Amino acid sequence: MDALLEWLSQTALARWMQNAIWAFPIAEIVHIFGISVLVGAAALFDLRLLGVGRRAMSVTFAVRFLLRTARVGFVIAVSSGALLFLSNAADFVANRAFQVKMLLLAAALANVLIFHLGIYRSVARWDLNVPTPLAARLAALFSLAIWLAIIAAGRLIAYV
Ligand code: HEM
Repeated sequence: MDALLEWLSQTALARWMQNAIWAFPIAEIVHIFGISVLVGAAALFDLRLLGVGRRAMSVTFAVRFLLRTARVGFVIAVSSGALLFLSNAADFVANRAFQVKMLLLAAALANVLIFHLGIYRSVARWDLNVPTPLAARLAALFSLAIWLAIIAAGRLIAYV
């Protein structure tokens, strides 16, 4: 692991992130933009699963519109996050808040997979103007809680 981290820190991109004075702040600004698009769209989708707007917006439309937007935010957050990570990989790997954040990120992605491979397959029965099944509402509550926890862990990286 140490050899990999040492190798990462010697790459041209890592050196650029370490030496270019604006690289880290710009990557962090882009990171926060990606997070706001991802978590904003995901939270709106979770609210729809909890029944908000169920007479006006079908769940399948919300998946097409909001989850596609969240995916774009996710790609921006992960790619800018990887740049931030490269700037000081060894320290971030040892950082407790960063470790917790990566575990929470894995749990958030597992929740998305379980939802899409599970309850979402029966969406035709609860697509519009009917209450969503308990499993979908639990997935939404878990998602809201876990993205909040990821943001908290991300913010705490600089403090631990
Ligand atoms: C995709 C979901 C993600 C979310 C919601 C998220 C959230 C956050 C938040 C809220 C911060 C604090 C920003 C600040 O206040 O300045 C942060 C910082 C950070 N994130 Fe992420 N992040 C995500 C993914 C990633 C990934 C995949 C990586 C690395 C591979 C990463 C690496 C970092 C690093 C290194 C920092 C610390 C920057 C510093 O020292 O201030 N993030 N993240």
